[in-house]
Amino acid sequence: MPRFVKMATRDELPPGAAKEVEHEGRVYALFNADGVISVIDGICPHQGGPLADGALSGTVVTCPWHGWQFDVCSGKTPLGSKIKLEVFEVKVEGDDILVAVP
Ligand code: FES
Repeated sequence: MPRFVKMATRDELPPGAAKEVEHEGRVYALFNADGVISVIDGICPHQGGPLADGALSGTVVTCPWHGWQFDVCSGKTPLGSKIKLEVFEVKVEGDDILVAVP
């Protein structure tokens, strides 16, 4: 059973918004991509850029440091299948956004 942890409220994450959350030493990037809440690793696998600070266009976030792009729903990047971010399950309960943590 995954363990769900509250990381945000719906008010904090309107469409187009992002939020970085650190939990138990791990960084998560929460996004609202046109109404769909998704959560991926918050640290860019290139050189550690903060993905929640990147520009979000549709479901694609662009890392603010060097421009690598990731789909926030799949964790995939056009750079190739060897690079993929972890995607975390999300549950919305009332106003709370809960994330399944490892
Ligand atoms: S750190 Fe993200 S593209 Fe370089």
